[in-house]
Amino acid sequence: MTRVAAVGDIHLAPGSEGLLRPAFDTLGDSADVLLLAGDLTRHGTPEEAAVVAGEVRGLPVPVVAVLGNHDYQSDRQDEVADVLREAGATVLEGTSVRLYGDGAAVGIAGTKGFCGGFAGRCAGDFGEPEMKALVRASRESAEGLRRALDGLADTGCAVRIALTHFAPVPDTLAGEPLEIYPFLGSYLLAEAIDAAGADLAVHGHAHHGTEHGMTAGGIRVRNVAMPVIGRAFAVYHLAPAGAATAGPTQTGDP
Ligand SMILES: [Fe+2]
Ligand SMILES: [Fe+2]
Repeated sequence: MTRVAAVGDIHLAPGSEGLLRPAFDTLGDSADVLLLAGDLTRHGTPEEAAVVAGEVRGLPVPVVAVLGNHDYQSDRQDEVADVLREAGATVLEGTSVRLYGDGAAVGIAGTKGFCGGFAGRCAGDFGEPEMKALVRASRESAEGLRRALDGLADTGCAVRIALTHFAPVPDTLAGEPLEIYPFLGSYLLAEAIDAAGADLAVHGHAHHGTEHGMTAGGIRVRNVAMPVIGRAFAVYHLAPAGAATAGPTQTGDP
């Protein structure tokens, strides 16, 4: 059984040092890995990233992250990622990482993802170059996620997780205004996840959404935006056979 802790949208900045650290320090008791689902900062500055780094440096479990749109706001996303890596976190973008627990390899494939909407109500690859660029960015992100998941399957990971910031399904957006769904995620991510296969998909971004959802292919989706889960992290238990069940609620005031 792999125990996966996850949270997104922690939006830290100078002044919020130590907000999550007491809860994160308990992770060794309840989880094997901590996933960070993007929007780790408010405006994507290295100074804000340093606050995140202070929260995760030296934790008792590996930390795997993707960035979110807020982490791109200052056009310094590479520096933000570097600050997190210097603190020991693995930052994914169209890439994957393998972790080794009690006999089973756990693979995590990650990308920020992008928007564009969901089947029947999505942006189309038509018309102005700006619209085509949006659809291309969304498609390239999804293709990167699919390649990363496929790569993990090729190396025989017993458990595979898709980690994104943008949502792959509309289920976990319930509670958000319908008008902004196209800006919150893309069905292309879910298509990639279903095509490649995964045991769990974790995302953030939708602060007013819902925790539980599922892809058309039956893969469990969890929106772990901190305002949604209402705590410092959620924990999900994954069996190597592929069944994911929501684990016990974890404590820790965010
Ligand atoms: Fe956010
Ligand atoms: Fe976001």
